[in-house]
Amino acid sequence: MPFTANRQFKAEPRMLVGARDMHYTSEDGRTILDGTAGLWCVNAGHGRSTITEAVRAQLERMDFGPTFQMGHPGPFELAERLVKHTPDGINKVFFTNSGSESVDSALKIALAYHRAKGQGERTRLIGREKGYHGVGFGGISVGGLVNNRRMFGTLLNGVDHLRHTLLPENAFTQGIPEQGAELADDLERMIALHGADTIAAVIVEPVAGSAGVILPPVGYLQRLREITRRHGILLIFDEVITGFGRVGEPFAANRFGVTPDMITAAKGLTNGAVPMGAVFVADFIHDAFMNGPDSAIELFHGYTYSGHPVAAAAGLATLDLYEREGLFQRALELEERWAEALHSLSDLPHIKDIRNIGLVGAVEFEPRETVGARGYDVFHHCFWQGNTLVRCTGDTIALSPPLIVSESQIDEIIGALKHAIKTVN
Ligand SMILES: Cc1ncc(COP(=O)(O)O)c(C=O)c1O
Repeated sequence: MPFTANRQFKAEPRMLVGARDMHYTSEDGRTILDGTAGLWCVNAGHGRSTITEAVRAQLERMDFGPTFQMGHPGPFELAERLVKHTPDGINKVFFTNSGSESVDSALKIALAYHRAKGQGERTRLIGREKGYHGVGFGGISVGGLVNNRRMFGTLLNGVDHLRHTLLPENAFTQGIPEQGAELADDLERMIALHGADTIAAVIVEPVAGSAGVILPPVGYLQRLREITRRHGILLIFDEVITGFGRVGEPFAANRFGVTPDMITAAKGLTNGAVPMGAVFVADFIHDAFMNGPDSAIELFHGYTYSGHPVAAAAGLATLDLYEREGLFQRALELEERWAEALHSLSDLPHIKDIRNIGLVGAVEFEPRETVGARGYDVFHHCFWQGNTLVRCTGDTIALSPPLIVSESQIDEIIGALKHAIKTVN
């Protein structure tokens, strides 16, 4: 099983057998409140009938069609509708099947872009400590979570990492923290060390999800944008988690008012119903590939299932829901309520930090001196006793409920967490 203590799981399996709206059903027949939108992906809630219908209709119309040298309408229509929500100047889409593939595709597009511009020596990639960019070799190379890297050898050459932005002076800030914009200047040091003309791209999650919801300090992303632009370095926002309304706008790029050169996405793109990812690409990058003869393939890259017709149908039905139900705005509407509920936990024992933005949040615990993470025990208690699904990574509990969550369900999630924290030592 992925990212799971397999032997522990085998001894006490946590099995889900059904899902509807805000709830799962467990194998032992309990109703479990979903505090994590599955795995940060079911933004419109579970079992949405219009998505089911769209998938069924597409399977009946055409189950599969290749996108290598052939086409079909779904992905084109989806791309055209999606880019209405991306920042100005980002109007091109390359479809993948996951966040990891989106990241690897974006990194390859960055390298190929510079080469197309006659700057093939720009090959360095820069990520950030605590970054999570999926599990492909590109993604773990630019990623900054040591456990995800150290089993797998030397990874890609020529990769550096900015420092992360999780600063103790920002602990318990409600919303975007004040301190730390200057951490973006790490990039200036790397440029001074290597030369800007060797650097292809910087990739960051605007809000780092998997490492425990780490927020960008006020002005940080703006500063990164300014430095990358000044030096001709591409800026990629990995929005696999923040995409599709999680932070109160379609993308974090919209929320923070910073336009990167590429955005990677997946998860909420199809509401988790069918695997699909996407790279949103600035027009100027796309155009740089269009200089050869018309008969030349512009990008030697792609997946059998890029732009899969069934995934595209699920994506279109999902986008209908997001638009019709105002779900891109809902996280912003609930942000204050969510922050208040989450920060009401701050006086409980062993709590080191609480962080939030939009409808995402994290509670970080002090590490124990003995073995075994508190986070796991809290997660375990929430599932078995609190009938609530939360997510744990080490000593951090992350929360990201579907965007259809009600105010009373917010209280339920926080109540289950409170009980668990009081119980676990
Ligand atoms: C920011 C980010 N990038 C990439 C990924 C990888 O996505 P996938 O698991 O679909 O490959 C994730 C998954 O959580 C993610 O959070």
